[in-house]
Amino acid sequence: MSCLKPERLNMVHKFFKARTSTILSQNPRDDSRHPPPARSERRGRRNLLPLIHHAETSFCPCCASDAKHGLPETMSRDLPSSALEIRGLTKRFDRLAVDRLDLTVRAGEFYALLGPNGAGKTTTLRMVAGLLRPDAGSISVGGIDALVDPVAAKQIMAWVSDEPMIYDKLTPLEYLEFVAGLWGCDPVLSERSARDLLGSLGLEPHQNERCEGFSKGMRQKVALAGALVHDPRLIILDEPLTGLDAVSARHVKGLLQDRVRSGCTVIITTHILEVAERMADRIGVISSGRLVAEGTLAELRRQNGKGDSSLEDMFVALVEAEAAAA
Ligand SMILES: Nc1ncnc2c1ncn2[C@@H]1O[C@H](COP(=O)(O)OP(=O)(O)OP(=O)(O)O)[C@@H](O)[C@H]1O
Ligand SMILES: [Mg+2]
Repeated sequence: MSCLKPERLNMVHKFFKARTSTILSQNPRDDSRHPPPARSERRGRRNLLPLIHHAETSFCPCCASDAKHGLPETMSRDLPSSALEIRGLTKRFDRLAVDRLDLTVRAGEFYALLGPNGAGKTTTLRMVAGLLRPDAGSISVGGIDALVDPVAAKQIMAWVSDEPMIYDKLTPLEYLEFVAGLWGCDPVLSERSARDLLGSLGLEPHQNERCEGFSKGMRQKVALAGALVHDPRLIILDEPLTGLDAVSARHVKGLLQDRVRSGCTVIITTHILEVAERMADRIGVISSGRLVAEGTLAELRRQNGKGDSSLEDMFVALVEAEAAAA
């Protein structure tokens, strides 16, 4: 992988700092859980990591490298049988967004979280990713209490927002190099991983172009590659297929299926019910911040007494029943 020139690296560092202070000033309520690093920590490439963790990003500090995999030790270990366990999770804005939610996602499964607009999916996942503080409840990521040790939890997961943020002045390859460097990944292994990811996502012809000229879908794919470059065991994606053309969507779906085959856990939210129907091992339906149905497609059909109905039919029936009961 081409090395970033010092002046380019400086430019990115400045960008991170500016972005971090903007975010801190926008989210003062969440500061106590992730206190900003001491002034003495704010120098040098590795020392940016606490700032970045503190900000709204998908990365966090990393520690000593694992010589075998080039990854921090906590990132390369296997998850226990539950990849994610949420208990009593609650978040209120003006009104209740997530309402005493219980949710378990097993290690190695492809889980689709569905729900109507405003159901609380993004809010739930943002709490899991450490970007929002819950009012109540617990979150365990691979056995790690994400509210007590958010950094350790982030080390084994990737979060791809529905509004991905990348750095326009970098090329995809530079961006992935930068992210892998933040994680402390072995440069040789991460270069291979970055090139594989860009190839799988159809971005290879653009890997040396600056992202500033990229379309929305191309940016989404760069953000996805950035989230996967450190080889996370739990991958959480908020509407990853929205805005992608059919070829790009196939690239992304293929990549996610490969990750599940290699033992990772994938959680996605989507409004494309066909994706959930075809790809998910289990499906959860959220309405008004509560889990109202969960299971395999066959189980959902049995639970709803609808032998051969489509997921769309069941989804509409469930959501309408919830709305009528509210
Ligand atoms: N930062 C915020 N401030 C105030 N209210 C918020 C905020 N974020 C989300 N909400 C509210 O919380 C509720 C749940 O929103 P959320 O974004 O989690 O829904 P969603 O299920 O992801 O919906 P969609 O399918 O449209 O993405 C909504 O009523 C929304 O208006
Ligand atoms: Mg959402």
